[in-house]
Amino acid sequence: MPESCPAPVLQARDLCHVWRTPEGQERRLFKGLSLELGAGEKVVLLGANGCGKSTLLKLLNGLLPISQGSLHWRGEAISPERLRDRELARRFRRDCVLLFQHPEAMLFNPSVAEEIAYGPRLLGLEDIPARVARWANELGLEPLLELPPFQLSGGEKQKVALASLLALDPGLLLLDEPTASLDPRASGWLVDTLLDSPATALISTHNLSLAAELGSRALVLGEGGQLLFDGPLRLALGDLGLLEQAGLAHRHRHRHGGLAHAHLHGHDWDAP
Ligand SMILES: Nc1ncnc2c1ncn2[C@@H]1O[C@H](COP(=O)(O)OP(=O)(O)OP(=O)(O)O)[C@@H](O)[C@H]1O
Ligand SMILES: [Mg+2]
Repeated sequence: MPESCPAPVLQARDLCHVWRTPEGQERRLFKGLSLELGAGEKVVLLGANGCGKSTLLKLLNGLLPISQGSLHWRGEAISPERLRDRELARRFRRDCVLLFQHPEAMLFNPSVAEEIAYGPRLLGLEDIPARVARWANELGLEPLLELPPFQLSGGEKQKVALASLLALDPGLLLLDEPTASLDPRASGWLVDTLLDSPATALISTHNLSLAAELGSRALVLGEGGQLLFDGPLRLALGDLGLLEQAGLAHRHRHRHGGLAHAHLHGHDWDAP
């Protein structure tokens, strides 16, 4: 690679995820998926239920081992063996964060304040009280700081999980359905925060209306986990054939007076 061309922030080559069913049968997802995320890019990951979005984000975060293929982060190879190097693991974990689709899986501290402080403390960062105060303020969590996270509402838990990641000042955000439980105001805050941030982000969502706000590039996965599209988000959202192939277009009946007819839609049910 020429010196003037910096390494991508994340580069996956020929990824494949293999597992066995309880009956011993081999199952595969992705069958050789390759992608690159460049510095500062905001990329939206689209695909139907079960196509592999969450699995892909976990592979890219090093949380699931890659069965085949390779993963490079800022030019360094990442694998379970490589992550035994504590210094590399510390740098990678601070930079590359994953927001789980179900935030309960991330919350285990006795209070919201301790939850937000946990990552920065584990990674030996400075100014922990200031980090907690900043992100609690940004996400409106101040009244909840002393509460146990398990007592919070779904959207509040999502905000605590987000705050605990953002408190690390990460450079690479892997966000799995981050707006699923957020109200419109909090979703708007997240869109603005992401767009104002220099960080690279890969964001999965089903919300095609919000997708257009979250990024400018789309990765569309087919129902077998194959990469159907990698390009401008607007092109993907305007391509009803692609959306139908990905299982992202829906058909429902319209009722006009006494008449009813059905046709395909690419927009979300709740879109204006
Ligand atoms: N290790 C594994 N063992 C069993 N099944 C697995 C494994 N890894 C992936 N799968 C299956 O692969 C499919 C993809 O799951 P994944 O959660 O990634 O989908 P998704 O695109 O995030 O779906 P959703 O939109 O519902 O969140 C699922 O059917 C899941 O059960
Ligand atoms: Mg998922």
